[in-house]
Amino acid sequence: MVDETRVHSARRYNYWLGGKDNFAVDRESGDMIAAAHPTIRTTVVENRGFLRRAVTFLAAEAGIRQFLDIGTGLPTANNTHQVAQGIAPEARIVYVDNDPMVLTHARALLTSTPEGRTAYLEADLREPAKILADPTVREVLDFSRPIAVMLIAVLHFIEDTEEAAGIVRTLAEALPPGSHIVISNGTGDFADEATRAQFDAMKASGKLDAFIRTADEVARLVDGLEVLEPGIVPVSDWRAADEPQPRPTPAEVAVYGLVARKR
Ligand SMILES: C[S@@+](CC[C@H](N)C(=O)[O-])C[C@H]1O[C@@H](n2cnc3c(N)ncnc32)[C@H](O)[C@@H]1O
Repeated sequence: MVDETRVHSARRYNYWLGGKDNFAVDRESGDMIAAAHPTIRTTVVENRGFLRRAVTFLAAEAGIRQFLDIGTGLPTANNTHQVAQGIAPEARIVYVDNDPMVLTHARALLTSTPEGRTAYLEADLREPAKILADPTVREVLDFSRPIAVMLIAVLHFIEDTEEAAGIVRTLAEALPPGSHIVISNGTGDFADEATRAQFDAMKASGKLDAFIRTADEVARLVDGLEVLEPGIVPVSDWRAADEPQPRPTPAEVAVYGLVARKR
């Protein structure tokens, strides 16, 4: 059921991206975060740019043809299947989100090239074993061939880093060698004292549902996996040589991105 009285991160993100699929409660929460971090639109645009470049790298350079995109969000430009199938029409994508509003928009995500496949599953990232065992996931994705798991701007809704790392580990263990994990996660590493204090106050008041991580904490999420070049960097700087220059500053972006590979 779509609850118009509770903040949903998918709708708030849609608001920041300039979309219309959001309610007053989402806009209020979005404005509260923007008051502490006024460059939030840069943040979300750069996060989407990272998603596009990471999927492009995976499809064009790493030869990945299967994607499990958890924490999909409401459809916008350059969704994972559009980027992947633009390079490899046979690419197969399963989208997973726990927000019923995303489900109501799933049809927009379920377009596919005739050669490929897209599917949508309503499930929770906190239950990775359930996602991995789901019949749709097993039907669309072949677990004997490399898969990329996309965890873009979703792990920061899981506050405890050990819990988040355990989820990534469960997912990675189910994948064959040559598979990849893509992560973006908000950070306060580049923020000034005043901004950090504002975020701490929001957190203390229970009004913040997203939890930032340091570079070390983000590294813990992919313990045991090989982090590919250029490492754990602001999403705006991840293989961004062809993007318009100058790039936004790390403080404006405040999100780390990485692509890791299972050997
Ligand atoms: C900030 S949006 C990111 C959307 C997209 N990945 C992107 O980066 O453009 C976060 C999405 O994760 C979903 N989400 C949050 N917690 C989740 C959970 N525990 N399980 C599955 N999805 C979750 C939200 O519903 C929302 O659609």
